[in-house]
Amino acid sequence: MFSLQDQQENNQKKETQSNLTNNNFKLFLLLSEMFLLFFLFLWLTSITSTTSLSPTFNDIYCPNNTTFQSNNNTIFKTNLNVLLSSLVTNATLGGADFYSTFMGLGTTNVVNGVFLCRGDVNSTVCQNCVTTAATDITRLCPNKTESIIWFDECMLRYTNRYFSPTSIVPGANLKDDKNITTSKLDTFNGMLLSFLDRLAREASNSQTAKQFATGEDKFNLSISSSSVYGLAQCVPGLTNVQCEECLVNASRTLLTCCEGKQGARALLAWCNIRYDFYKFYNATDDSSSLPPPSSGKRSHWFNL
Ligand SMILES: *[C@@H]1O[C@H](CO)[C@@H](O)[C@H](O)[C@H]1NC(C)=O
Ligand SMILES: *[C@@H]1O[C@H](CO)[C@@H](O)[C@H](O)[C@H]1NC(C)=O
Ligand SMILES: *[C@@H]1O[C@H](CO)[C@@H](O)[C@H](O)[C@H]1NC(C)=O
Ligand SMILES: *[C@@H]1O[C@H](CO)[C@@H](O)[C@H](O)[C@H]1NC(C)=O
Ligand SMILES: *[C@@H]1O[C@H](CO)[C@@H](O)[C@H](O)[C@H]1NC(C)=O
Ligand SMILES: *[C@@H]1O[C@H](CO)[C@@H](O)[C@H](O)[C@H]1NC(C)=O
Ligand SMILES: *[C@@H]1O[C@H](CO)[C@@H](O)[C@H](O)[C@H]1NC(C)=O
Ligand SMILES: *[C@@H]1O[C@H](CO)[C@@H](O)[C@H](O)[C@H]1NC(C)=O
Ligand SMILES: *[C@@H]1O[C@H](CO)[C@@H](O)[C@H](O)[C@H]1NC(C)=O
Ligand SMILES: *[C@@H]1O[C@H](CO)[C@@H](O)[C@H](O)[C@H]1NC(C)=O
Repeated sequence: MFSLQDQQENNQKKETQSNLTNNNFKLFLLLSEMFLLFFLFLWLTSITSTTSLSPTFNDIYCPNNTTFQSNNNTIFKTNLNVLLSSLVTNATLGGADFYSTFMGLGTTNVVNGVFLCRGDVNSTVCQNCVTTAATDITRLCPNKTESIIWFDECMLRYTNRYFSPTSIVPGANLKDDKNITTSKLDTFNGMLLSFLDRLAREASNSQTAKQFATGEDKFNLSISSSSVYGLAQCVPGLTNVQCEECLVNASRTLLTCCEGKQGARALLAWCNIRYDFYKFYNATDDSSSLPPPSSGKRSHWFNL
């Protein structure tokens, strides 16, 4: 299990001391300090705006039994590097939100790569995510014949075999720390699964090329009724039936890993599904304004 270190900004404060009594010089110091503070402010602002564009890491699948064979690792490694850069090129120059390609087709060193951006992010966010993913996947998981990296904004994977379209392996779960406030867990589970099944159906029957759906539902949790938001997406290339099966399989893992939580996701090779008690996606068709996500959300991952 890998986790990215939280980015921390170290603000260093320098104490400038002056023994000088000259008033003009003091004024000069004051002005230059203000000048420095101004540039520090600009610098911090630019840092903040760039970090807001960097994708949010979720998890990485990095199997310990798929390390390169030493006799032919250079060919595979070269193929992989070309593959990853062609994925990045396609995201940045092509502006695509999905791309799948092969390197070394017909050889023992074949590698297939895919990236998929979340259905509601713009191309700038998508490009940033794919670029980061392509670098991080080999940095965090070196010398493997297969790996998958999931961010909030995109997923990128490569493999020298075939991932089964409806399998929950390889996969990962993410859950919110917060519990739902109800004693009727079974009722909640029932409402949740039928909500997620509806999203799975919507995403798989999507009329557009994207097999993507978001939605909202109101759950009566006895004490109050709560809005629940969901998102489901498949990697293009699946049939409608495969997409729905993948999503339904994925949703069933949520009861095992994350029962009673206010938010959880299942991230697989071919699809992903998520629900949360706040509106975490960017749907312009839904005009209802909702409170921002609760801050300080940290989640725990469990491998399936
Ligand atoms: C490989 O991973 C599996 C489970 O993910 C673990 O049980 C096993 O001990 C690991 N093997 C090595 C050599 O690290
Ligand atoms: C790696 O180990 C898993 C079980 O831990 C197994 O299902 C999988 O087939 C193995 N992969 C390879 C390439 O040996
Ligand atoms: C390396 O060669 C072996 C056969 O010698 C083959 O099975 C394997 O797929 C090749 N590629 C990698 C990445 O190990
Ligand atoms: C990008 O994707 C398109 C298809 O969507 C493909 O024709 C093109 O060759 C790709 N470009 C690169 C650099 O991989
Ligand atoms: C959300 O959607 C609007 C309108 O389509 C778009 O302008 C904006 O960039 C989107 N935000 C993200 C994070 O993609
Ligand atoms: C894309 O979305 C991001 C994040 O919401 C936003 O900062 C950026 O301005 C958007 N870019 C375009 C071209 O809409
Ligand atoms: C990956 O392989 C390279 C040689 O190709 C080696 O130098 C490096 O130590 C390996 N990294 C890991 C983590 O095994
Ligand atoms: C996923 O769903 C399909 C069809 O419903 C089923 O055959 C398969 O066993 C499921 N896979 C897992 C891992 O649950
Ligand atoms: C949520 O519930 C679990 C099990 O009932 C408990 O262990 C955990 O402490 C609870 N978490 C919070 C944040 O209340
Ligand atoms: C929720 O259901 C209970 C009975 O199960 C009912 O008494 C209550 O009025 C309902 N609350 C809402 C907000 O619908």
